[in-house]
Amino acid sequence: MQTQTESQAGTQWVALLDEEARGLVAAVDAHPDARRVFNGTIDAEGYAHYLIQTYHYARWSTPILGEAGERLKQSGRHPELAELLIQKAGEEQGHEKWLLSDLKNLGWHHDQVETARRSPAVDAYTGWNFFTSRSGVPTAVLGTAYVLEYLSQTRAGVGAERLLATAAIPNIHKSVTFLRSHGALDGDHVAEMARILEGLTDPEEQAAILFSARATRSIYPGIFREGTPSGHLLAK
Ligand SMILES: [Fe+2]
Ligand SMILES: [Fe+2]
Repeated sequence: MQTQTESQAGTQWVALLDEEARGLVAAVDAHPDARRVFNGTIDAEGYAHYLIQTYHYARWSTPILGEAGERLKQSGRHPELAELLIQKAGEEQGHEKWLLSDLKNLGWHHDQVETARRSPAVDAYTGWNFFTSRSGVPTAVLGTAYVLEYLSQTRAGVGAERLLATAAIPNIHKSVTFLRSHGALDGDHVAEMARILEGLTDPEEQAAILFSARATRSIYPGIFREGTPSGHLLAK
């Protein structure tokens, strides 16, 4: 059982993680194209850009989380966090298929998605998170998961509904599975992570998780289209 002091420390450090998560939401709200995805006013090209870049990082979620979990488990440290990482690897399985299906319904074939240029943010995201998963502090991956799921619970479900209400993108009613599903699932996932992370009292592990949360919050807005709608990065 935790002492009063430990449990306060747990709540306090998770509040710092929430601050990083709120920072990510604010950064997304401040980015012109990201804001338009979640308020439903994005054009078809900008929405496809978002889904394609998301595909190129989300396809690695299961190996990133799973390998971190297995490495932590083998170390014998923080068994509850190792289990959480392995559980989350399972939860993320197949989510890239929602993206491919949404993109197909927007007219993007699988091979076009595969060969589309990845933004520097996607390379930074996968590079950093594979590093912590395979070689750095494996629990750090939870910082990334926390801020992304927090963003999802805050913006994804509402974003899907607004895209449908605006209906400016042809076939949009068949192309919001990724957003809608995450909006529905990630509220519970954030609450579960917060509850488990409150039990983590090791300051170095807390620092590693917070550092990854901050790295991801800095990198993530870069997955959205930059510049004006005509100055986009993607070649179809
Ligand atoms: Fe997911
Ligand atoms: Fe989730």
